[in-house]
Amino acid sequence: MRSLLGARSNFEVCGEAVDAQDGLEKALQLKPDVVVMGISMPNLNGFEAARLIHNVLPDIGILILSQHESPETSKQAFRAGALGYVLKSNMADQLESAVEAVSRRKEFVAPAHNSASSSVDITEAERTSARLAAIVDSSDDAIVSKDLNGVITSWNPAAERIFGYSVQEAVGRPITMLIPAELRDEETQILSRLKAGERIEHFETVRVTKSGERLNISLTVSPIKDSRGRVMGASKIARDITQRVRTEKELLANQELLRAAFAQTYAFLVMLSTNGTVLEANRAALEGTGFNHHEVVGRKLWDVWWHSLPEEQVIARTSVETAAKGVVVREECQYVLRDGTVRFADRTLNPVQDERGAVVMIVASALDITEHRQLRGMLEDRVRERTGELEMKNLELMRQTEVVRELSARLLQIQDEERRRIARELHDSVGQMLAAVNMNLAHVAREAHALSPESARALADNSGLLEQISTEIRTISHLLHPPLLDEVGLRSALQWYIDGFSERSKIQVTLELPEDFGRLPRNLEITLFRVVQECLTNIHRHSGSSTAAIRVTRSENEVRLEVRDAGRGIPAQTQNRLASGKLSGVGLRGMQERLRQMGGQLEVQSNGSGTEVSATLPIEVASAKQTATSASGAA
Ligand SMILES: Nc1ncnc2c1ncn2[C@@H]1O[C@H](COP(=O)(O)OP(=O)(O)O)[C@@H](O)[C@H]1O
Ligand SMILES: [Mg+2]
Repeated sequence: MRSLLGARSNFEVCGEAVDAQDGLEKALQLKPDVVVMGISMPNLNGFEAARLIHNVLPDIGILILSQHESPETSKQAFRAGALGYVLKSNMADQLESAVEAVSRRKEFVAPAHNSASSSVDITEAERTSARLAAIVDSSDDAIVSKDLNGVITSWNPAAERIFGYSVQEAVGRPITMLIPAELRDEETQILSRLKAGERIEHFETVRVTKSGERLNISLTVSPIKDSRGRVMGASKIARDITQRVRTEKELLANQELLRAAFAQTYAFLVMLSTNGTVLEANRAALEGTGFNHHEVVGRKLWDVWWHSLPEEQVIARTSVETAAKGVVVREECQYVLRDGTVRFADRTLNPVQDERGAVVMIVASALDITEHRQLRGMLEDRVRERTGELEMKNLELMRQTEVVRELSARLLQIQDEERRRIARELHDSVGQMLAAVNMNLAHVAREAHALSPESARALADNSGLLEQISTEIRTISHLLHPPLLDEVGLRSALQWYIDGFSERSKIQVTLELPEDFGRLPRNLEITLFRVVQECLTNIHRHSGSSTAAIRVTRSENEVRLEVRDAGRGIPAQTQNRLASGKLSGVGLRGMQERLRQMGGQLEVQSNGSGTEVSATLPIEVASAKQTATSASGAA
C-alpha cells in the first residue's frame, strides 16, 4: 500500500499502525488528512475504530479497505463515519483516486462499471439516507416529519424523549396533538406558509407533552418536496428551550432591576473597559458632575473627571491598572466637575470577572464626600481647639497647685525662722538687758540701808519680779525654739519640753524613745518636736485626758512618732474635714502639710476613748530635702 501511495508526490505516508488502537493513537498524534484502514483487524473491530476516530477527530477523512462485497458492509462503513470504501481487489486501480477524494472531503464509492464490485454498489440515495438516518437518530432535537394533512410520518428518539410519545404512538396521528388548544391557529398558518414553499426558522412557541406538561420550544419547519419540486409534507425540528426561556426571563428581570439600580442610585457609577475607557455612566455620574453622556463614553476615565488634575490622573490610571489585575482599589481622591470645580470623592474600582476569573470590566463607583470632609475637618479643628484649651487650663491648675504648695512650705519655713529669730532676740537681747537690770538692782540693793523701808521692800519685790521675768522669757524663748534640740538632740529636748508641759498642765506624760536613738537631720528633728508640741497642746485644750503617751521608733530608713491620749476623741465632723483636707488652720492640718512636704504622712485615729496621732517620715528623703533646703537657704 505504501508503495502504491508513495509513488505519488501528492501524498505523504506519515505513519503506519499495527492495529486499531495503535491507529487511533497515531491519528491523534499525527493528525493526518486521511486514515486508510481495513475492517478486520486484531483487537478492535474496524468499524468501531472508524467510529472512534471519527468522533474524536471529525476532520480526518476515513477510507475503508475491505474484501467484503456485500452492500450491507459498505453501508456500515459509512454509518461508522467513513468517507470512502474501496474493495481490496480494486485497490491498484482505485486507491489513489479514493485517497484523493477523501482528502478533499468527498465521498468515494467504487464505480459501478467494475464488474467485480457491481454487486456491492449502493446507490447514492441509499448512502445519503443511511447517513441522514444516523444523524436524525443521534440528534438532541426532536425531528418530526408530517404530511400536508398534518399527520405525523416520522418520529426520532429525541421526539420520544421530549414529548413522551413512542414512535408507535406518534406516527399516523395528527401533529395537533402536540399543540395547545389556544395555539391551533398557528398550525394552520404554518401549513399555509409551507404550501407556499417557505421555510420557518427558530419560531418560538409552546407545545404540550403526553403528560400535559407545557414546553417552550424553538421550531424550524422545512417543506419536503418530491423530485418534481412539489411540497409533500414538512420536517420539523423542535428544540426544548423551556429551561432557556425560564433563565432568560429571570435574567431579564434581573437586568431590569440592575438597570434601575444603576440609573437611580445617588452614587456615581461608571463602567470601564479594562484599559480605563468609559463604557457607560449612570445619571448621578453625569448630572452630578455636569458632563453629557456623549462627552464621557469612549473616553478614558481620567480624561473626564480628572481632566485638570495631572497628579490625580496618574493615580486614577494606576488604580485602573491595579483593578484590571483583579484587585479592588478604594481610595479618597479629588476630582473635577465639568466647570472646573474641584471636589472630593471616595472612589472604588471593582474588577468584574468572568467564570474563569479573567477581568472583563471594571465598575468604578464614587461618593462625593466634600461636605463630609469639611464637616470632619471642622469637627477635628474644634476638638483640637478644645483639647488645647483644656490642656492650658490643666497646666495652669497644676502651676497654681505648685505655687500653693511652695507658698505653704515657704510659710512653714518662715514660721520656723521667725520663731528662732524671736527666740534668739528674747534670749540674747532682752535676756542681756534683763541681766544688766539685775546687776543694776544688785548695785542698788547694796545701798538698800539708805532707802526708806517701803523703797527697800519695793526693791526686793523688783528683784523677785525680775527673776520671774527672766525665767518666763527663757521659757518662752525655749518653747519658740528649743535650744537643746540643736545641741543635744530630740530625746533631751522632748524630755525637757514634756517636763515643763506636765508641770504646767498637770497631765501625766510618758515618753518612750530608745536610748540609742541617735541624731536625725535637723529639720526632721524640728518637725517631730513640733508635732509633739501640737499634739500635747491639743490634748491639753481639747481631749480632757489626764494622761498622754509618746512613742518614737526608727528603722533604717523611717522614723515613726505616736502620740496617744485617753480623752473624749475628735468629733466625727472634724475628723471628716481633716480627712478630706478641708480643715483649715495651722494645727493638725499644718502638720499634715509639713509631713507631706517631707515625703511622710500624718494619720489620725480617734474614737470616744481617745485619740492617736501617728506620723511617719522617711529618713533618706528627709535628709535629701534638708540638703536641698539648706542649699537654697544658703543661696
Ligand atoms: N486629742 C484630741 N482630742 C479631742 N479632740 C481633738 C484632739 N486634737 C484635736 N481635736 C479636735 O480637732 C480640732 C482641730 O485641731 P487643730 O487642727 O489642732 O486645731 P485647733 O487646735 O487650733 O482647734 C480641734 O478643734 C478639736 O476639736
Ligand atoms: Mg491645735
